[in-house]
Amino acid sequence: MAEALFEHIAYATNNGRIRPTITVLSQKSPNQNVRIWNHQLIRYAGYKTAEGVIGDSTSIAFTEECIKLGWEPRYGYFDILPIIIQLNDNPPKLFDIPDHLPLEVSIRHPHFDWFEDLQLKWYAVPIISEMSLEIGGITYTAAPFNGWYMGTEIGARNFADETRYNVLPRIASLMGLDIKSNQSLWKDRTLLELNTAVLYSFKEAGVSIVDHHTAAQQFKKFEEKELAAGRAVTGDWTWLIPPLSPATTHIFHQTYHNKVEKPNYFYQSKPY
Ligand code: ARG
Repeated sequence: MAEALFEHIAYATNNGRIRPTITVLSQKSPNQNVRIWNHQLIRYAGYKTAEGVIGDSTSIAFTEECIKLGWEPRYGYFDILPIIIQLNDNPPKLFDIPDHLPLEVSIRHPHFDWFEDLQLKWYAVPIISEMSLEIGGITYTAAPFNGWYMGTEIGARNFADETRYNVLPRIASLMGLDIKSNQSLWKDRTLLELNTAVLYSFKEAGVSIVDHHTAAQQFKKFEEKELAAGRAVTGDWTWLIPPLSPATTHIFHQTYHNKVEKPNYFYQSKPY
């Protein structure tokens, strides 16, 4: 299974020309339950220390499990976590991802030379691995899948959220903005430059990514095609609008029926 997951990473990454990919492991049955403990196959570690969190706060609990299973923490900001696979009630097994597999993009800004001194980077392919796939009455408890990133996921959330990498104040100061005044709109100005840097860096590195305006246009086309086929589009509005400039997209000005259809992916309780 670990080999299949490594192959997924390589196939999906495709040197940057990301391929949407799904790997479906054995279905759930009374005597078989496969679980991948990771939230995503590639994810950065998070460490709770006396001086605060190092790395990705969303990974703290999982990182602690890795350490318990013998993984050596490095206490860096961007340490790629190993993969944990569990079959039934057997002890979970830990697998280091071979170094050459995860593709990462260093973040630079097209005009601000100092930006690269922040030493920000992000991995190329988001591969969700903790959800279960329900299809045709069958449940697959391990069926990791990926698309490519929309820039805002990284630039407006992963780097920007106060509970994640929280880099806005540092960038704002380097931009010479007054972070004491809400009215200076320092957060908005900083978000704009950070997201510009994310899109620019992925593009320069030849790694697939989509900006939120293009993604909204693509979604519009999808809505039209579905309508023409006599199907209603369902979705969660709060997830469909982008976190940056949402009202500039058509999605903001519409409502969506959030009906849960199948086949679909579902959350399942954490195995740890
Ligand atoms: N938002 C998640 C992240 O920032 C990834 C979720 C899947 N995203 C995707 N574009 N397929 O890591």
